Amino acid sequence: MHFSTLLTAISALTFASAAAVDTRLGAFDVSVIRGRPLSLNNTQTYEFALGQDNNSCLTFGNSTNMNTVDVKFWNPQCLLTLFEERNCSDLSVVTGPNCWTPDGGIAAFKVTCPYRN
Ligand SMILES: *[C@@H]1O[C@H](CO)[C@@H](O)[C@H](O)[C@H]1NC(C)=O
Ligand SMILES: *[C@@H]1O[C@H](CO)[C@@H](O)[C@H](O)[C@H]1NC(C)=O
Ligand SMILES: *[C@@H]1O[C@H](CO)[C@@H](O)[C@H](O)[C@H]1NC(C)=O
Ligand SMILES: *[C@@H]1O[C@H](CO)[C@@H](O)[C@H](O)[C@H]1NC(C)=O
Repeated sequence: MHFSTLLTAISALTFASAAAVDTRLGAFDVSVIRGRPLSLNNTQTYEFALGQDNNSCLTFGNSTNMNTVDVKFWNPQCLLTLFEERNCSDLSVVTGPNCWTPDGGIAAFKVTCPYRN
């Protein structure tokens, strides 16, 4: 193989792997049941891709408040912020990558990526 052909092959490879970059932002399960484990029949899964992050206050559908959240994976450049009020007006709490039951319940959430470059 010619040296220049090899270089072309390498940059084509680099390009291919860059195109395969993970566009997932994160995913979590929520349940109205307090505590774990989350049983499948009372759990909803939410999944976000990069670009679906914004400052909107999101709820779990009409008048549903959740109690337990289980973060499956989360991009370290992004935050999952939970609220007790459906209008996101209260003091918020940022979740880590874990399963927990916040005291005041979970009425709404925001998905933001403040550290994205
Ligand atoms: C839902 O899960 C609960 C607790 O695990 C169980 O008792 C119940 O039978 C399940 N219901 C259905 C419809 O699967
Ligand atoms: C914000 O993101 C959510 C979830 O991806 C989406 O449903 C909503 O339309 C977005 N809002 C704006 C103003 O882009
Ligand atoms: C949402 O909840 C309100 C108040 O409980 C009810 O009147 C309305 O019909 C519900 N809407 C849907 C789409 O379930
Ligand atoms: C948000 O909702 C709470 C509870 O319903 C209410 O007391 C508060 O005034 C609302 N805040 C805003 C900014 O709408």
